[in-house]
Amino acid sequence: MNTEPNPIHQPVSSSDEKTSGVSRRAVFGGVAGAAALTGAVAGGYAWGNHQNSSEETVSDSYEFWGEHQPGIDTPVQDRLHFVGLTVKTEKVEQLVKLFKDWSEASARLMSGQPVGEETSYKAPPDDTGEALDLSASHLSITFGLGRSLFVDEQGNDRFGLKDHMPEGLIDVPHMSGDMLEEARSGGDLCIQACADDPQVAVHAIRNLVRIASGRAVVKWSQLGFGRTSSTSTQQATPRNLFGFKDGTANLKTEEPELLQEHVWVDTQDEKEPAQWMASGSYCAVRRIRMMIETWDRAPLREQEDIVGRTKVSGAPLSGGGEFDAPQFDMQGKKGPIIPVDSHVRLMHPQMNGGVQMLRRGFNYTDGTDGLGHLDAGLFFIAYVRDPRTHFVPLLRTMMRSDALSEYLRHTSNALFAIPPGCKDENDFIASGLFKAAKIAID
Ligand code: HEM
Repeated sequence: MNTEPNPIHQPVSSSDEKTSGVSRRAVFGGVAGAAALTGAVAGGYAWGNHQNSSEETVSDSYEFWGEHQPGIDTPVQDRLHFVGLTVKTEKVEQLVKLFKDWSEASARLMSGQPVGEETSYKAPPDDTGEALDLSASHLSITFGLGRSLFVDEQGNDRFGLKDHMPEGLIDVPHMSGDMLEEARSGGDLCIQACADDPQVAVHAIRNLVRIASGRAVVKWSQLGFGRTSSTSTQQATPRNLFGFKDGTANLKTEEPELLQEHVWVDTQDEKEPAQWMASGSYCAVRRIRMMIETWDRAPLREQEDIVGRTKVSGAPLSGGGEFDAPQFDMQGKKGPIIPVDSHVRLMHPQMNGGVQMLRRGFNYTDGTDGLGHLDAGLFFIAYVRDPRTHFVPLLRTMMRSDALSEYLRHTSNALFAIPPGCKDENDFIASGLFKAAKIAID
């Protein structure tokens, strides 16, 4: 196993003045800042330079540019704001412009800057302002394209992109037990913003949605407050709302060969019209309500049998420590010690032709259901190389045979194609798709 960290989405070096852990108003120092210190500037107000000497100096920003989009192999942050969007414009050139605007804004946001510098008393400021005093907080922004961007419900080509729709961008089949809510599902586009500060994640989505005005609107929105997966060997395994460690057997950023095999789309994967997807991925999303009140009444033995791991240490029921391989053949008094319907047995690569996924989900609570129960659960997010082999078969097995499913309600579903990353400042999200479709991008 290669233990070299992936250089792409590691924190930007603290020697990089532009992006080193300073708050975004401090980034706005220099001329505007100096003007602000002496008072208002002509016709408006500059974000001031109020940086003081105790300002943190440790880098906490990631680079937006790179081979892959950030927010996938980036060590998973503490907070999430995820939105599905509906595209309103019918003009493909406006869609191109939207991706250009979003890419530029995302690079600024991820480096801890406001989305724009314009402030005038006569117009709303470019940036909404609620993150001005906050650092980049490891913000990552990831964009995805839904099937409905390519074809409408009747199968019509919406923007001249249909022939270039990647084959893996399927309609996820209906699963027995699905209780999907249309208003929370699907989306022409998605944006995932993750950060260690919830205000930074929400600020990013709010400003990106504002930039999209007239071109796209939010269809659904989901906040997540606690990561349920570790995606780096440097991170301790967090816990989900059933109280179990989640992410033990997840793919990690320090395993580039495995990411290449299971997460990144390869040039050979897609046939010619969709080769623009190389170095991209697919993002499968499910809002899964967890019946926590019922779960909390289940005896500990039953909870552990359902998961297939011990609750406290996270070790497989066959013994050893958290990271030891489960022994599925080991027999107990009543059969296999890791039960045949346990979650980890059914989801393990050994039972699924060797496939793995990069899970990056978050806990959520969205109030109550009106019947005295919390509407709480897991906002499941998984990045895979091909949903047809790496996600749908596992989901089907889970819905049919997994003992965990008795305690779950799947309330939303969405699948997005994740274009590769933007190479540099001259590039923008999904540029390869528009080029392949011979749509003018200049
Ligand atoms: C609320 C729903 C879910 C809960 C509470 C849950 C919980 C867990 C827990 C506790 C583990 C063991 C620790 C670990 O290795 O991460 C695990 C592993 C895993 N889960 Fe889930 N999970 C849920 C939904 C899903 C879904 C929808 C899928 C995919 C269709 C999935 C796929 C996996 C996989 C692939 C593993 C790793 C299995 C292994 O290699 O040992 N989970 N999950």
